[in-house]
Amino acid sequence: MELLVAVVTALWVALPTYIPNNVAVLAGGGRPIDSGRDWRGARLLGDGKTWRGSLAGIVGGIVIALALNGLNDPVSDAIGIDLPVFPIAIVLMFPLGAILGDMTASFVKRRTGRDRGSAFPIVDQLDFLIMALVLGMIADPQWMLDVFVVPVLVAIVVITPVLHISTNAIAYVLGLKNEPW
Ligand code: CTP
Ligand code: MG
Repeated sequence: MELLVAVVTALWVALPTYIPNNVAVLAGGGRPIDSGRDWRGARLLGDGKTWRGSLAGIVGGIVIALALNGLNDPVSDAIGIDLPVFPIAIVLMFPLGAILGDMTASFVKRRTGRDRGSAFPIVDQLDFLIMALVLGMIADPQWMLDVFVVPVLVAIVVITPVLHISTNAIAYVLGLKNEPW
């Protein structure tokens, strides 16, 4: 597979996993999912994981995946690359996985003494992607194996941390996020 095809395909299929946590930053606030509860001496998840942010993030990711499906034909034609269409199970599971992956990381951070907003390198950059891929494999393994061939997977694992770090840095500079990670 040509490098450009791998990179463009990687960005296309990963977009529904990138959007949810960014929407959550914009929409977040209100009641935390753990309702302020502690577990084993620390918050279960923390104030950074809210119902509003999580639900808005999932809906945002679903809308993006559906929009990409709607644009698939014209964009594939225009760039001469046969872009994948998201099956409905993946439309739902990628955004859900992205939010749950980030939440799982918060759970692990609290268990390991990391306060809300602390940096957790590598985990912060890939948690959402890994959980989205796991849920995708459960929901539609055949589609996942067809789409995530080795060059696409390598492109995603390289591009995702770079995009994550840069979008968070931009959100910080714009005053949308409290920390630059
Ligand atoms: N956010 C939210 N719900 C989510 C994820 C994020 O409401 N499921 C919002 C919160 O306002 C959060 C902000 O987005 O503070 C930034 O998200 P993130 O960096 O993931 O959370 P942190 O505040 O850093 O908390 P943690 O240490 O638990 O990751
Ligand atoms: Mg954070």
